[in-house]
Amino acid sequence: MSNNHRSKASNHRPNTLAAHAGYAPRDYHGFVNPPVVHASTVLFPDTQTMKKAAQPYTYGLRGTPTTQALEQALDAMEGSAGTILVPSGLAAITVPLLAFLGAGDHLLCVDSVYGPTRRFCQQMLQRTGVEVSYFHPSDDIESHMRPNTRVVFLEAPGSNTFEMLDVAAAAQKAHAGGALVMMDNTWATPLYFRPLQHGVDLSIHALTKYPAGHSDVMLGSVSATAQAYPRLREAQMALGVNAAPDDAYQTLRGLRTMPTRVERHGASALALAHWLEGHAMVARVLHPALPSFPGHDLYRRQFSGSTGLFGIVLGGMGDTEAAAFLDALELFGLGYSWGGFESLALQPDLSDRTVAHGPTDGTIIRLQIGLEDVEDLKDDLEKGFAAIARLR
Ligand SMILES: Cc1ncc(COP(=O)(O)O)c(C=O)c1O
Repeated sequence: MSNNHRSKASNHRPNTLAAHAGYAPRDYHGFVNPPVVHASTVLFPDTQTMKKAAQPYTYGLRGTPTTQALEQALDAMEGSAGTILVPSGLAAITVPLLAFLGAGDHLLCVDSVYGPTRRFCQQMLQRTGVEVSYFHPSDDIESHMRPNTRVVFLEAPGSNTFEMLDVAAAAQKAHAGGALVMMDNTWATPLYFRPLQHGVDLSIHALTKYPAGHSDVMLGSVSATAQAYPRLREAQMALGVNAAPDDAYQTLRGLRTMPTRVERHGASALALAHWLEGHAMVARVLHPALPSFPGHDLYRRQFSGSTGLFGIVLGGMGDTEAAAFLDALELFGLGYSWGGFESLALQPDLSDRTVAHGPTDGTIIRLQIGLEDVEDLKDDLEKGFAAIARLR
């Protein structure tokens, strides 16, 4: 498939890129959105063209104008040379790991990684003969590198516990040891962090979250450097995964308004985080943009903004109090995922951590702050605290 990247928008700032990148209206009769192309077969004009694959599109799986518009928008925002789309955020983690690891290789992964990433490493990768080990996000990775370390996998902030790490330092050490660096960048979005500028080779997104933004699409992306892209793309095609056209369209539609939504998610989350810091039942608030958070300096040095997901530690409490709190909430839904318009809350399971264990001073509640009014969300959280008080 041709990877005819439009450079028109790539020097612009993030909001402009989100509004314009990936598709030029003149490409399709002036319509401001690309067509949704449903396709398996693409016809060739003659056998020579077919043999040389000498046309932009050759088969549905290999891409359509719709998927390409989203890929190119993400390339512009991530500063990458090529992006692949896959059917979920989790697939955006497993496809690159499969692309770059094989029997005898070592994967070094941050311990505060998204749970299903670890499950894939423990189940499928180890079964194929890949060694996997985990490091604490505050560790210098040099001491964890092995002669056969081929991939270092980062996620910042950490899933559910929100630890920050020094991305550029980790990338430099990984490269010095001959390893490639992948990073799950879902929390920050390319609006607030661009991993490739910090030495990361492959930037991963669950587009399901803020880019799609409406809790109705599942999609993932991997954006790569020029060096890493060909092997990534080859693995995607070998595995036979791409995005469905309607999902790609919906996500591009979401991307256009993502900056405004994320700004609101982030501001409301920060306002609630400050308020929760003063609450008697909250021992700590796990939010990298709070000056009290241990990784705050790393956050400020690297990220240009925060989004809507953070945690609170209910001081001295356990499962009973967490259940009372969650069951009393009315606006905050009890459900997986985040990045949609609606607020959500849950008690994460951290039982599979090996070195970055969860808090010992209480239990975590993870909050996804939606687009509702902050005062209504405060009132709802007060219902949760009141339910805990009734237990006593
Ligand atoms: C940090 C992170 N990465 C990846 C994913 C996976 O995304 P998806 O739900 O689209 O598979 C999630 C989902 O919650 C996530 O929180």
